[in-house]
Amino acid sequence: MASHAVFSRQKPHVVCVPFPAQGHINPMLKVAKLLYARGFHVTFVNTNYNHNRLIRSRGPNALDGLPSFRFESIPDGLPETNKDVMQDVPLLCESTMKNCLAPFKELLRRINTTEDVPPVSCIVSDGVMSFTLDAAEELGVPDVLFWTPSACGFLAYLHFYRFIEKGLSPLKDESYLDTKIDWIPSMRNLRLKDIPSFIRATNLEDIMLNYFVHEADQAKRASAIILNTFDSLEHDAIQSIQSIIPQVYTIGPLHLLVNREIDEESEIGQMGTNMWKEEMECLDWLDTKSPNSVVYVNFGSITVMSAKQLVEFAWGLAATEKDFLWVIRPDLVAGDAAILPPKFLLETADRRMLASWCPQEKVLSHPAIGGFLTHSGWNSTLESLSGGVPMVCWPFFAEQQTNCKYCCDEWEVGMKIGGDVRRAEVEELVRELMDGDKGKKMREKAKEWRRLAKEATNDMCGSSELNFQMVVDKVLLGG
Ligand code: UDX
Repeated sequence: MASHAVFSRQKPHVVCVPFPAQGHINPMLKVAKLLYARGFHVTFVNTNYNHNRLIRSRGPNALDGLPSFRFESIPDGLPETNKDVMQDVPLLCESTMKNCLAPFKELLRRINTTEDVPPVSCIVSDGVMSFTLDAAEELGVPDVLFWTPSACGFLAYLHFYRFIEKGLSPLKDESYLDTKIDWIPSMRNLRLKDIPSFIRATNLEDIMLNYFVHEADQAKRASAIILNTFDSLEHDAIQSIQSIIPQVYTIGPLHLLVNREIDEESEIGQMGTNMWKEEMECLDWLDTKSPNSVVYVNFGSITVMSAKQLVEFAWGLAATEKDFLWVIRPDLVAGDAAILPPKFLLETADRRMLASWCPQEKVLSHPAIGGFLTHSGWNSTLESLSGGVPMVCWPFFAEQQTNCKYCCDEWEVGMKIGGDVRRAEVEELVRELMDGDKGKKMREKAKEWRRLAKEATNDMCGSSELNFQMVVDKVLLGG
């Protein structure tokens, strides 16, 4: 026992703090697993709300952790409830910024006075949880900020303050969305509508506008910035970021690094953070389908749509005559249950599978998937590129607009669908995606990105692999 205690006190100890949303917790868990595999003691800090949700969805032992991988939680400052839905985003952003520093410092103090636990030696926190910088400074440890969006999205956030200076935000009226944005180095052929959606604020007091101006400014204080992307995909945007913040490292696609380095069947490999139960039957169903024959439809963890939009998507998909796997979260339709027309259910019964949550990484790497109708969330986009799957993009909010623009114009793997969904357009674009000439070209391009993503995470000389090790050695271990 004594020798174990001595051993564990010698380990470096990283505290990982994701922003409390699915699309941020998942990639942070991957960073945490990779650090654990490199010998770190890990403390993973969720909010109480998500901690309880994870236990409800994954079972009472889901967050028991391992001796050197502990889960902790702090309050997010919002009134306590036991719901199983994504919290209100602006309220959550405002509250974490104002209320999380004190409980976080208290947690660090408690950890550092716990016997048999090595002292906290570094922090990796979400880029939009920058309050951790104050705690790290006080403790005298490095704080690496993990900006979970694309590099192009992050680059746009870094310039948010200039949109205000130029009078482009707050938005005067919708006609300004077509304004050309040609003054952000490396960003080409963009319009205001392609910039992360929070720029559309209508007043200067807008919570999300101020939050991103503030958090982007704080990025300069970080010991380093890590991004879940790879050099060959976003080379120009990364260089442009580095001219503002030199200490930027690309370490993605993280799921490929994790798949290569960590045995899925091991205890650490089995650890998961999905807040909805994954319906594994999807994979059996896909096994019965021929290559590139199935359309995968999923709008991520936060997107909400109207009942009318849901119905338009449904009839559009029905008209394609293609097999499809459609994931409909229980809270996908705003203020309502997601109800599909009985006639649609009857007509498509033999060629579709519906689920409320699926093992998406596995789905997107399944050979049966021929195309992805997506909200352009960054994790989904990376998983799609890594699977060699072309996309029809229906961006909802945040930097999804920017991801969509890059998918369509820079990476040539996507086609955008109008915000006001019409069934005829859904049918046309999905048919093109699956069988058209453009769809074929996009699939070839996506396969090329898949090859480059694998190259970046190659264990010998992949850029992301080398960068990850560099962050560990130079920043987290302070070598
Ligand atoms: C969004 C955006 O992605 C992000 O870019 C933005 O900054 C904030 O929020 P989200 O809607 O969660 O996040 O989308 P995405 O980034 O694609 O992340 C969803 C995650 O959940 C992915 O890791 C995906 O693999 C997983 N997922 C999703 C599943 O495992 N199963 C599902 O059925 C759906």
